[in-house]
Amino acid sequence: MWDSLAPLGRDKDSGGYRRFAWTGADRDVRDWFRQQAADRGLAYEEDRNGNQWAWLGDPEGQDAVVTGSHLDSVPDGGAFDGPLGVVTAFAALDALRERGAAPRKPLAITNFADEEGARFGLACVGSRLSAGALSKEDAFALRDADGISLPRAMERAGFDPEAIGADHARLNRVSAYVELHVEQGRALDLTGDPVGIASAIWPHGRWRFDWRGEANHAGTTRLVDRHDPMLPYAETVLAARREAALAQAVATFGKLHVVPGGVNAIPSLVRGWLDSRAADQETLDTVVTAIEEAAREAAAREGVALAVVRESFTPVVEFGHALREELGRVLRTDGGEVPVLPTGAGHDAGILSAAVPTAMLFVRNPTGVSHAPAEHAERADCHAGVTALADVLEELACR
Ligand code: GLV
Ligand code: MN
Ligand code: MN
Ligand code: MN
Repeated sequence: MWDSLAPLGRDKDSGGYRRFAWTGADRDVRDWFRQQAADRGLAYEEDRNGNQWAWLGDPEGQDAVVTGSHLDSVPDGGAFDGPLGVVTAFAALDALRERGAAPRKPLAITNFADEEGARFGLACVGSRLSAGALSKEDAFALRDADGISLPRAMERAGFDPEAIGADHARLNRVSAYVELHVEQGRALDLTGDPVGIASAIWPHGRWRFDWRGEANHAGTTRLVDRHDPMLPYAETVLAARREAALAQAVATFGKLHVVPGGVNAIPSLVRGWLDSRAADQETLDTVVTAIEEAAREAAAREGVALAVVRESFTPVVEFGHALREELGRVLRTDGGEVPVLPTGAGHDAGILSAAVPTAMLFVRNPTGVSHAPAEHAERADCHAGVTALADVLEELACR
């Protein structure tokens, strides 16, 4: 399975993936998903929000057990973030069939649309729409860097966006969603375990900072006469590191847009996006407020205007204890308990947890790197993930 998926959307120079929602590369991975379903004789459907479903059993049946993840990527993403959950889902279903385990409940594999938000700036668009956490109106207002709206992009990809919106009837038929994901850190590497269970997802959000100054000539404008928005931006990046370190949180400026973008021109606008996350809401609020204050002070010193917009926010997610403990029971070995760990990364499972009993499994990542080409999972650990997922599905769907 990996061999047919691996080349799709890979950038030859960086070796990373560029599978952005509703682009050609996304169409290729979606076709791959449909083919995997067909190869297994699974019923295939796309829901009203463009999420893909492959069914063993009745798609209209009650108490469905669902597993999967996403196939889109961040810019120059790794091979595993998302795809590992989809590939292991198909492999776990194969394993169940080999075991002769017959599901008593409908079993589905999903690929949620636009999990990373790399193109339209908002993560987990497909699952947010389905769970009713994003309105059609707000989704229609999303635009990519070229000004193409989300519905237009969907339409160009051959998908009718008019029907998008909450899908409560479908989610009400789901009794459990279990998402397997490559770990995006090194906790399992340190404990020496191939597989872990998620306890929680840190609250996280994205904020857009616009510093507006005065465009002018880089060679002739005296330093004292400048209103250069790059200066407060630079000071804010340092403040973000400082405030995050103080609070044991994280804060990142990973994307920047400079207007007009001439080497020999002082910019008129510097737009930077802050991604910040912390273990709890209060800490996150404190960190972001402090960063904003630092940004305002630096802007005032340079005579530059600042506007800050919160583009998205996802509150803390505590995965339900009942399902989490059930996974722990199923996966416990003679060697002991499976580690339970929180994560700073967002997932469709976090969004769906508001509507459906939800759990996550993590597979060890020896590099600890994610959202970059060095992201990795050893083959043996991927197999351990398949076995763990098959055990969980057997427990949830076949008993
Ligand atoms: C998505 O993976 C995120 O956590 O930003
Ligand atoms: Mn990701
Ligand atoms: Mn992911
Ligand atoms: Mn994610």
